[in-house]
Amino acid sequence: MQTKNQQMIPVLDSSSVFGKLKEKGNPFWSQYFAFYSSWWGGIVQDPSLMLLPMDDHMVHRGDGVFEALKAVDRKVFLMDAHLQRLQSSAEKIGLSLPWTLEDAKEIILQTLKVANQSQALVRVFLSRGPGGFTTNPYDSVGAQFYVAITELKSLPETKYEVGVKIGRSQIPCKDSWMAQVKSCNYLPNVMMKKEAVDRGLDFTVGFDPEGFLTESSTENIVLVDAEGILVQPPLKYILKGTTMTRALQLAKDRGFAVEQRRLSEEDIFSAREVMMIGTTLDVLPVTEYEGKKISEGRVGAVAKELRQMVQKDLSNGTPF
Ligand SMILES: Cc1ncc(COP(=O)(O)O)c(C=O)c1O
Repeated sequence: MQTKNQQMIPVLDSSSVFGKLKEKGNPFWSQYFAFYSSWWGGIVQDPSLMLLPMDDHMVHRGDGVFEALKAVDRKVFLMDAHLQRLQSSAEKIGLSLPWTLEDAKEIILQTLKVANQSQALVRVFLSRGPGGFTTNPYDSVGAQFYVAITELKSLPETKYEVGVKIGRSQIPCKDSWMAQVKSCNYLPNVMMKKEAVDRGLDFTVGFDPEGFLTESSTENIVLVDAEGILVQPPLKYILKGTTMTRALQLAKDRGFAVEQRRLSEEDIFSAREVMMIGTTLDVLPVTEYEGKKISEGRVGAVAKELRQMVQKDLSNGTPF
């Protein structure tokens, strides 16, 4: 085979590829602690071996589902809720877990033990599996399970002290079915993150076809309305966040009024408080939307209290 400038592209044998594996490192490798692969049938710690089969349908079609969980002080937060959501996503795309949820849990905990970090981010992928290279999900030798343990990157504390800036997303909202599957097909979410970064914002938030508020790239949005009620958007066009669900339950238990209701852009401007909620953030106050201050640009008391409740709840996680 020859390229335009007539240089021969080498055809490599396995020993020369193995030799190159380590050379191909990147600065992120120091943040990767352990990787379980059902394909390998074990755990690896060398990032050069954290590989997927190219013909796994998760790679070439995004045909798989995933979860991101966090471990703090050697405890995994909301593990059961995440695994149940993984199962529910898998069911929606007709993919069965090769094991029970209990087995999956055990694999995650063992991988965490090998990683041996007290704080970590745990990404769990259930893929359609290798075979065929087509869109046909039946062209597979069987579903695979991968677990990647990496560094947990928390936001700087100043973001919680001064609040974050958000804007309106221009990325079309997913339809209801897609929004409720945490699939490995996350292009709209990627584009939402890109537009936020490109605009110098912390997050952008989407709106459904009827113009009501949905969610952010990988976070939910919740507000305290003018009457002091904590309101979350209905679940039709959003992923049901494990953190949002838990935080609002804790708030209810503490006596807060909590509601699910459609929210317009006007509701954001008139809100007493707006906050982003998600696994890596816990509860993060928003003080600006599209360049306009929310609640005069001050961080509200409810966001602070909800964050404290969630942080206290981290100690109820699953130990490893
Ligand atoms: C689209 C989307 N919405 C919301 C969330 C927040 O969910 P959780 O609190 O479970 O992290 C996530 C993160 O997983 C997400 O990907």
